[in-house]
Amino acid sequence: MEYIDLRSDTVTKPTPEMREAMAEAEVGDDVYRDDPTVNRLEEVAADKLGKEAALFVPSGTMGNLIALLVHCQRGSEVILGNLSHIYLNEAGGMSALGGIQPCPIQNQPDGTLALDDILASIRTEDVHHPITRLVCIENTQNICGGVPLTAEYTRQVGDLAHNHDLSLHIDGARIFNSAAAQKIAVSELVEPADSVMFCLSKGLASPVGSMLVGAQTFIARARHIRKMLGGGMRQVGVIAAAGLISLERMTKRLSEDHARAKKLADGLRQVKGLVVDANSPYTNMVYLNLSEDASVDAPQITQKMKELGVLVDPENARRFRLVTHYWIDDQAVEQTISAFQQSLN
Ligand SMILES: Cc1ncc(COP(=O)(O)O)c(C=O)c1O
Repeated sequence: MEYIDLRSDTVTKPTPEMREAMAEAEVGDDVYRDDPTVNRLEEVAADKLGKEAALFVPSGTMGNLIALLVHCQRGSEVILGNLSHIYLNEAGGMSALGGIQPCPIQNQPDGTLALDDILASIRTEDVHHPITRLVCIENTQNICGGVPLTAEYTRQVGDLAHNHDLSLHIDGARIFNSAAAQKIAVSELVEPADSVMFCLSKGLASPVGSMLVGAQTFIARARHIRKMLGGGMRQVGVIAAAGLISLERMTKRLSEDHARAKKLADGLRQVKGLVVDANSPYTNMVYLNLSEDASVDAPQITQKMKELGVLVDPENARRFRLVTHYWIDDQAVEQTISAFQQSLN
């Protein structure tokens, strides 16, 4: 059975064009820098993000970890959101592998970290204190609703960080969704950042891979650490070929996913028993709760929806996140609304 899969944009399978490009990709040993397809992907990524250099990494988690390991030393501290992916969902890699201590501060409902909170969290010079090295923000901020952070806000965080000798890293797993929603160039959005990780494997539909971008010196260190972590890959042009299509083509169609997320949210607002979050969606994520009087819980609905051919992932007993992506068309949106209706009856 072909499911309509709204659990995440990580479920995207490669497009037919990607499969063709992957089959025909020119390859070489990328640890020797001999893979022309990877070299091209890294050039295009750096250029699009407006940074000097880029590095192809197997996952977003590894990209973020490498960035933290380059920016920080053992015993130093990173200021980041209490709802950030790096803090919650990256298996504590910074502490386990880097001896780096997280300093989580509250994510505001709009996904930002309050500038005053960042300022208050920067450690003062004291023999008792860890040394603050880095601020991380997430754009789009996933748990706050897939909300895009603005260029102006990013500029303010960048200024604050740099005025205190800190670096700024952006977990931009979905930075192209953010840029598309705000109709600005991604390079403008990340201009204040010292490093950015973004994923090719989510809304951009590649089967595998993320990019880390930054200055030449940063990427040289990052390349070394990628090798240390076992992320130096060989004839990986077969995957980078899909990444090039992600960057050159898929970035241009993300507003279609956003429009379908809106259509989905509008339809679900009409379904008795569901309460869609007030401002949802900001990008490609629709967040909703079961109403107080709903007689079924989210796991029960998830099971019924599966029987109707729709995969959804409950966030908890009463909450769902639905994510649109390349493989969700208008008909899938209609079917999903209807499946929710049937599951609540
Ligand atoms: C905001 C954010 N950052 C980082 C990642 C990590 O990416 P990966 O699954 O490729 O390790 C994810 C994955 O869903 C994410 O949502």
